[in-house]
Formats: sequence, C-alpha cells, structure tokens
Amino acid sequence: MRITTEKLNEITKANDIVDIISQYIPVKKKGKTFVALCPFHPDKNPSLYISQEKQVFFCFGCKIGGNVFKFVQEYEKLSFNEAVFKLAERVGIKINFRKGEIDVSNEFSKLYEINKIAAKYYYNNLLNSKGSEKDFLNEYFKVRKIKKNTIVKFGIGYASRGWNNLSSYFLENTDFTIEDLKLAGLVKVKEKGNFYDTFRGRLIFPIFNEYDKIVGFGARKLFEDDEIEGKYINTQETRIYQKRQILYGLNFAKDSIRANDYVLIVEGYFDLISLSQAGITNVVATSGTALTIDQLKLLSRYTQNIILTFDADLAGIKASKSGIQLILELGMNLNVITLPEGQDPDSYINIYGKEEFENLINKKVSFIDFVTNIYKKENKLNTPEEKAEFIKEIISFIVRIPDKIKRAFYIKEISNKYGLYESDLRDELEQSTKTHRREISIKYSSSDNLSVSSKNTKKGSQIQKIESDLIELFINGSPEAIEYLVYNVELDFIENEIVYNIISKFLDEFINEGNIDIAKISNELDDEIAKQIISEKSIPRYFFSENEETDNHTLIYSVTKKNVDYLKAAKDIIKKFKIDRLRKEIEELKKEGKYEKIRQKQIEIKEIQKSED
Ligand code: UTP
Ligand code: MN
Repeated sequence: MRITTEKLNEITKANDIVDIISQYIPVKKKGKTFVALCPFHPDKNPSLYISQEKQVFFCFGCKIGGNVFKFVQEYEKLSFNEAVFKLAERVGIKINFRKGEIDVSNEFSKLYEINKIAAKYYYNNLLNSKGSEKDFLNEYFKVRKIKKNTIVKFGIGYASRGWNNLSSYFLENTDFTIEDLKLAGLVKVKEKGNFYDTFRGRLIFPIFNEYDKIVGFGARKLFEDDEIEGKYINTQETRIYQKRQILYGLNFAKDSIRANDYVLIVEGYFDLISLSQAGITNVVATSGTALTIDQLKLLSRYTQNIILTFDADLAGIKASKSGIQLILELGMNLNVITLPEGQDPDSYINIYGKEEFENLINKKVSFIDFVTNIYKKENKLNTPEEKAEFIKEIISFIVRIPDKIKRAFYIKEISNKYGLYESDLRDELEQSTKTHRREISIKYSSSDNLSVSSKNTKKGSQIQKIESDLIELFINGSPEAIEYLVYNVELDFIENEIVYNIISKFLDEFINEGNIDIAKISNELDDEIAKQIISEKSIPRYFFSENEETDNHTLIYSVTKKNVDYLKAAKDIIKKFKIDRLRKEIEELKKEGKYEKIRQKQIEIKEIQKSED
C-alpha cells in the first residue's frame, strides 16, 4: 500500500507544519523560524525548530526531525500511512489505492515483488506437497502443535530439497533474472555463473515489515542430515531487509500491543507463533539477535512497556546487557518473567497452556528487582566485596534511567530491601553518571559534522564537513548559487552514500522542476536518515553548548547570515571538492612513485586556487 508522491505533496501543501505542530504543543515565533519545547525528550529550553518556509522541523537536542508527517507520526505514535491518512482527512483529501498495481520501477518495489512471489511459491509448495514429503511435513506440524490456520496466518512455507527449485520457478514464470534473485538474497551465485537456491529443505517464515510487506525470510532446518548450515538461516541484508530495523511479527502484533499497552519480546519464530496461536498476540521476536535502538524506537510508537523473558541466572543478563541498557535509556519500562529451566515460550505454552502463561506474566517483576533477586538467590550479597560488586552492577542499569524520580525510587527500595546504605548507592550513581554523561556527549558531539553520521557508519564513510556544507548550500543558498552548484557539482565528489542520494535528488529536482522544493523532496525520499539530515540543514545553523547540569543542549546564540555571498560560497565549495580530489589522486600516485604525474596535479591545484571562478 503505497501512497503516490503527488498525493503526499498535495497533503503537505494543505497542512502547514507550523499549524499542525501548534495543535499539539505551544509554538513561539522567533525571527524567521518557530521554536517549541521538544516533546520527544525532556527539554528545558526550546530546542525544537520549525521552518515554515521549508516545512520541516528539527530538534537540536534529540536530533529528531522531518516533515509534517514525521511529526504527527512520532507524536501520535502512528505508522507513516496512518499519519498521512490523518492529515489527509483533516483537509478533506481522499486517498485511493490502486490495487494490484505492480511497480517495479525502483529497486525497492522490485525486491518486495520478488519476495511476495517467493513467499507464495513456498506456501503453495507446502500446501501441495505429496506422498512421503507431505506425511513428513504433517508430522512435523503435529509434533510442534501448529494448526492449519496458523500456517495460513503467518504464511509459513516449505522450500524443498534440491538446488534450483525456486530459481527455476522464477525463470519459467516471471521476467526476473538470477541477478534480481541474488539481490533479494534468494539465490547464491558461485564463480562461473553457477547459482543455487539459498533455502533448501527448510521451513520458511516470511518476515514482514511494519506495513505488511515481505522483506526477507527466516528458514528452519527440517532434515537433521543437513549438517553444514545452522538450525536457522535468514535472508542476508538487502536493500529492504536490515536486521537492525526489523522485528519479526510486529505487523501482526501492532494493534494488540497498543490495546494491551505492553509488548512481550521473545527470541524465536516458533515462540511468537505458538504464543499467538494460543491467543497471546502482543508479541514480537528478535530472531535471536541483540535488540537495537531502531527496533526499540519502532516499539515505542506502540507502547513504553516491555516484558522480556529471562533464565533466572546472571549469565542471561550479561548476554543481553546492551539491549537492556538501551531500553532503560529510552525511558521505557522493563519487566521480566522467568521460565522454568530448559523451556522457551514455545515449549512452555504448548505444555502448560495459555492460562499458565498468563500467570507468569502476572508474576512479572521490574528488571531492577529481577537483578537484585538473582544476587540474593545466588547468595552473593554477604561480604562487603560482594555488596560492592552488586552495587556497581545494579547502578550500571539504574544510571541509564532518564527519570530522576524513578532512579531515586529504585535506590531507596533496594537499600531498604537488602540492607544496603542508601549513600553507597548514591555515591556509585554519581560516579557512574559522570562516566555515562561523557559517553553520551561523545556520542552526540557533532561539531560541524552531521550528528546523524556517527549513528550510521554502516552506510559507508562518515559524512564530511564539506559534504554537509554542500547540502546546506543547496537548501539555503541564493538562486544563482544553486544554479552554479547544479552545473558544477560532480556526483563522484561525494563519498557518503546518503549524501550522494540527497544531492542526486536535488539535481533531479532542479533539472525537472527548475527549483528545489524541500517539502516535496522529503516526501520522495525513502531514507529516514536522509530526511533527518535535510531537516537539520534546513534550519539556519546555531551554536550550542553542552550543559552538564541539565543534560541538555542549550542554545546560546545564533548567527543570522544576512550578508552571505552565496555565489562565492558555491564557487569555493566546488573548488575545494576539486582540490580534495586532486590531493587524493596525488596520494595514490605517491604510492606508485609516479612523480611526473604528481607535479602535473600540483600545478592543477595551484591553477584552481588562483582562478577567479
Ligand atoms: P533457538 O536456538 O532458541 O531456537 O534460537 P528456537 O526458536 O527455540 O527454535 P526451535 O524451537 O528449535 O525451532 C532462537 C532464535 O534465534 C535465531 C532464530 O531466529 C531462532 O528462532 N537463530 C537460532 C538463528 O538465527 N540461527 C540459528 O542457528 C539458531
Ligand atoms: Mn524453541
């Protein structure tokens, strides 16, 4: 279900961002921009900036930003489509979906389409299996207590043994190529162009994103003699499947999570499926990997309350420490339930049933209590050394909780319950707070590089200052400056993938429309980080100081760039790109010892530096 860009533009035009944000929070005018206390993090001085001209917002405190849809989405905890519907309805715009239309014009929709066909193939393959294969599969589902309608609901399928079943099906029935299937992670290509299906002899779980699109597959081994690969294998990372951003089952669980106002996070596909089959539906699965911040942000749109299942020993906590700390850091509430040794949610619910599982949930304890109980149970709170060790550990979690009152509450409770001095706990908290603040300030100290870049090193190189300046100039520059950039910038100047995409978009837009409409571009970009960068750069640059006391970034003064010669800035930046490139080439030539060429390049640099434009 994709809403056309034209529609999005129409809706954006009719919903002024300042009006919309003002409906939720008080907004004040300040020069050309509007400011507000940011509703997405504890904010003492207004750090949320809104540009009416560019129709974007950006918070200099927590770095959230985007267009009007993004704001409504975050504020009301809605999906993107829900936010679009809401704003469309507000101004009486109708959204019609063109059903069944296949759009393979861009890589994303192509991959979605391939996955959809593959999922159907695997599903039919399960349904239509015959003879001994059919008996084998029926027996498997019987043993694992999976019912027919559960298979239908989750679209579970079967990849038969054999090297090319799926690829042959695609080649015979569709126009997709082996190269396409490779990009989707469904086939592997060896040297000499030989290829084979990724999933063979396995049960297939389609992995859906939040909006019901199939982004990849999880596959469980069915035949014990297949020794080489693991019990489960998953689609490799593709353009549409990024493990860090997907939670298995969220699409099925959304409504139920909202209704129950908590989410149960489990590890495995079968854990989720069996719970759901038994009627416990507010569940998502991590597929056995550590929780990421992206996944938690996704969840926090639906609830702030998380329940995790743990083994009742210290090993389990150590293994999931980073995920736990993230949950606490985001200010979410974390409760814990324990299963009997050797059980997982799947086996437990199949043995004891729904009611017993609900009893477990009713016996949940806060994570802090859980850790403390374990120390008590393992008899590790006797000597002063043991107590010190415990205090260090428990504080390493408490320090992450943003809410002061909650922190104080836990400290009081722990000291009362376990006969520890409250002052010892508070001293440790203070120590730990200092280290923790330092970590955070390193994480967010952006100086002139874009703050978001550090979060995204996986997308290739860090965003260079010059790249970020280029974006800023494209957005804020005068018409002549922009025109100069359009005709002189070369895309291979740019190393960072996201910046590359943004700049190509700008060029495209300028060449087709004659100007660069930020609100429109924001609707056309799929990449959240790109949108964030654009909104950050749309707000004139301000200077910040770190305020240790309040943990907040405080605005000290702003510079209004009145008399900036944008055209000169544009010429300078192009020169600098050219010189940077020549310098890199010189570095390469040095390695090869080609001194004559180096001299030529040095002369070129001098000429560029001398030239007037
Ligand atoms: P488990 O090993 O606990 O398996 O891994 P499980 O979910 O209980 O599976 P069954 O019940 O034996 O079928 C938990 C999750 O970790 C991921 C899978 O997502 C699995 O569901 N995993 C596990 C892998 O990705 N690869 C593996 O080799 C094993
Ligand atoms: Mn299991």
